[in-house]
Amino acid sequence: MLSPIPVLEAYGLSATHGFLPETLPLTRLPDPYYHKWEAVAANLQAQVLSGRLRGVVDRLPVLSTVGLEHDAEWRRAYSLLCFIAHAYIWGGDSPADRLPPPISVPLLEIAARLEVPPVATYAAVCLWNFKPLFFDEDVDNLENLATLNTFTGSIDESWFYLISVALEARGAPILALMLTAMGAARQDDADTVTRCLRAFAERLTDLTLILQRMHESCDPVIFYHRIRPFLAGSKDMAEAGLPDGVIYEDGSGTETHRQYSGGSNAQSSLIQFFDLALGIRHRPTGETRDAAAEQEREGRAQKRNNFIREMREYMPGPHARFLDDVARVANVREYVEAHQADRDLCLAYDACLAMLSAFRDKHIAIVTRYIINPSREARARSRSRSREPTARKRVNLATASKKAQDRGQKGTGGTALIPFLKQARDETGEPAVEEWTRRFMKRKMGGDHRADLLFGKPEQAAVVEKENVDVKGLAGSWTMDDDVGGICLV
Ligand code: HEM
Repeated sequence: MLSPIPVLEAYGLSATHGFLPETLPLTRLPDPYYHKWEAVAANLQAQVLSGRLRGVVDRLPVLSTVGLEHDAEWRRAYSLLCFIAHAYIWGGDSPADRLPPPISVPLLEIAARLEVPPVATYAAVCLWNFKPLFFDEDVDNLENLATLNTFTGSIDESWFYLISVALEARGAPILALMLTAMGAARQDDADTVTRCLRAFAERLTDLTLILQRMHESCDPVIFYHRIRPFLAGSKDMAEAGLPDGVIYEDGSGTETHRQYSGGSNAQSSLIQFFDLALGIRHRPTGETRDAAAEQEREGRAQKRNNFIREMREYMPGPHARFLDDVARVANVREYVEAHQADRDLCLAYDACLAMLSAFRDKHIAIVTRYIINPSREARARSRSRSREPTARKRVNLATASKKAQDRGQKGTGGTALIPFLKQARDETGEPAVEEWTRRFMKRKMGGDHRADLLFGKPEQAAVVEKENVDVKGLAGSWTMDDDVGGICLV
């Protein structure tokens, strides 16, 4: 018997808001009992700057979670505590490898209840951290959005989160569209499948336009040196000063170190939904289509996990379950493959692949501009200054990459970042049905259409690969060795 097509409401999702909460995030916890958390979060920047945050947090009482009622309150509490926790860990000259009970005890309880890890995930900083400026206007419009919390108080950081919020909102109707397409494919209703795919392709174009606006208010240097270090996790962070991870103190004295990935947009359920709905399959980095087929024949393919799949563990539980259930019923790719004589259907399907591949293309240009280039510049600067005496040196993610580069190390400071992203983009085009679309996408990938005045030329990324520049991503620790790193971390 066929599994039922998932119903959005069963996973707390909505047809209009998608993975964003149907009820807007709370701007404040209503119970005055929690005002101490609100007060710390409201003054985060000043307390980090003055070096007083850790003392303030250490002296907080351990608050109970019994006063949290509705889901929106739990989400607000999670977001607040994640901001405070990451500011506590990364907001000093060197990182703190212990989170004190006033943060760790409630954070662990709240994270368990919401089925998210106790770290600043995409949900904590994007999905549950925005408000509309005008309640009668839509939240898919960047001009109507503001953040609730930030680490730095900068517009650059707000913009970085809000681009994702606008993307999630604008992309939300695609969920219902593609579930309808899956139902229609079961009924052999090609017209409906085609109509849904066309609408999907059009919305994907909107999403790329939103993504392209990143540069308007988020400066790459500020992102790299000021924002990214706060989002860092505790996994593979030896270079950044956390060799074993972080201890979440609960007062028992028996706690052990925990390691989590940092917050990353790779934790967006929306983009993973697109892949599933279109039948796009991602392989471990460096693995070609033929090698994957070979592995599948040998029955080993499923044993190797990959980074994109791993990011599902950083999504709210119901969102990850939704994706798992969608994967069980996704049938559009197979339907299109079985109806190759239907030109309208094939064209609509291929248009979706082309649009999603264009989205990933833009994303690669952004990563080049926001991570790869600043990392190269920082390396060049640190080389020229290596003999200068420095008064006070910080240890965090930004300085960690430099240290790794200076020593020319492989391992946790290394990266297969651009090859990983390029492979994910190329895999997006692989299911194309029409020979012409396949040829066209291949040509585009190899061609120079990505030369972009705003985001830097693709050739820069190619140079970076040849230079073997070491950088850390957001959630991932990338190494130069394809056999131990890249998309496949396990
Ligand atoms: C300044 C902006 C951005 C930077 C610097 C950036 C950086 C990165 C990095 C380093 C990765 C590799 C995984 C990791 O280490 O976390 C990644 C992956 C990813 N990012 Fe971004 N990102 C940005 C914006 C966005 C936005 C707005 C989205 C859309 C929601 C997005 C979606 C993704 C996805 C889906 C992946 C997984 C790879 C894939 O599916 O192609 N990113 N990003």
